[in-house]
Amino acid sequence: MGETVIPLTDLRAAASLPPVPEHAGPPAGRVVDRLGRPLVDLRISVTDRCNFRCSYCMPKEVFDRDYRFLPQPDLLTFEEITRVARLFVAQGVRKLRLTGGEPTLRKGLETLVSMLAALRTPGGHPLDLTLTTNGSLLERKAAPLAAAGLRRITVSLDALDDAVFRRMNDVDFPVADVLRGIDAALAAGLAPVKVNMVVKRGTNDHEIVPMARHMRERYGPRVVLRFIEYMDVGATNGWRMDQVLPSAEVRARLDAAFGLEPLPAAAEGETAERWRYRDGAGEVGFISSVTQAFCGDCNRARLSTEGKLFLCLFASRGHDLRALLRGGYDDDRIAAAIGLLWSGRDDRYSELRGRAEAAPGSGERRVEMHYIGG
Ligand code: GTP
Ligand code: 5AD
Ligand code: SF4
Ligand code: SF4
Repeated sequence: MGETVIPLTDLRAAASLPPVPEHAGPPAGRVVDRLGRPLVDLRISVTDRCNFRCSYCMPKEVFDRDYRFLPQPDLLTFEEITRVARLFVAQGVRKLRLTGGEPTLRKGLETLVSMLAALRTPGGHPLDLTLTTNGSLLERKAAPLAAAGLRRITVSLDALDDAVFRRMNDVDFPVADVLRGIDAALAAGLAPVKVNMVVKRGTNDHEIVPMARHMRERYGPRVVLRFIEYMDVGATNGWRMDQVLPSAEVRARLDAAFGLEPLPAAAEGETAERWRYRDGAGEVGFISSVTQAFCGDCNRARLSTEGKLFLCLFASRGHDLRALLRGGYDDDRIAAAIGLLWSGRDDRYSELRGRAEAAPGSGERRVEMHYIGG
């Protein structure tokens, strides 16, 4: 669509080896970072591949036939993922989100879900286990994933109009298949389903009201539609501020069409501001990381497909946890290393964006979203 596409060099190499304490006792169960934010949410990318080529995430020109995705031996195994997730839980994590790329492309995903579903908090409770998907394979996968212990699901969907959707996913994928995926998720008991729409001014902003109408009328409160401001994540999407439609404007359009009223936040550190339709037809959310940064209580850590820990979506550098997992360290020492990394964290990219002082590390190339997930 005539956008600038910046060529990608391999930034996946940028990772440092975390310091590991010589001796470590059992983890304390809660760590906070330098800004007082606890570690609560771990997002695990299970593949860097995707069957879509959304221009804001994996532009075709960069992620073409010659692009080298990670080779199999580099990926964390299910056993490694489960072990590291257990150590994060010991450090306070209560929420696990599987992402990609497109997570349903990872072979045997249901097995991983069942392994993670068996984890317990120190108090003996199961974790909030969820997954973000583009919905393309969901019609088949929803029931087996739910049976394996998945508790919730978020489906990305940027347009209801078939032509607009096919253009945005850039692989000519029909919207009807994703809609059937949402139905299948609801039928499998994964309700309420969250549907995330990235809004790009001039590309799909005319789809805001039709999308809301469809979700309200067809599903009511069983689907929560959330509008995401297009972000300057990664280095390949040629992001420009004039392509961002501020959430305030999205909200005004919905308010005019249907009538909205605010809801209180459901959980600390939540990304979305919640509103509901005045007529009781359900809830919508606004994720405004560009116009209203939410770094202040950001409790999210991200684990890449090959086991690098990123402390911010906009980080340039990861921390190589795979080296520890494969390096013969015991659980307590690895948990302690995770605790040390988190306690040194001061990232707050979205808050600093646009300020004169610029974000730390902003001179370095940022990691791509398909690689660490949403
Ligand atoms: P729930 O647990 O279902 O409420 O999910 P969530 O609120 O964590 O939202 P989700 O994982 O669906 O994230 C939605 C979108 O928000 C992502 O796809 C990103 O675009 C954006 N997002 C999520 N986390 C962050 C974050 O830490 N920083 C920024 N800047 N954006 C984020
Ligand atoms: N800005 C906002 N959201 C994005 N996503 C991917 N790239 C961007 C971006 N540049 C969203 C996807 C999906 C989730 C995985 O991340 O639409 O909902
Ligand atoms: Fe794939 Fe999601 Fe990225 Fe689109 S946004 S290319 S569906 S990972
Ligand atoms: Fe968290 Fe970084 Fe996003 Fe801020 S920009 S909310 S610190 S991930």
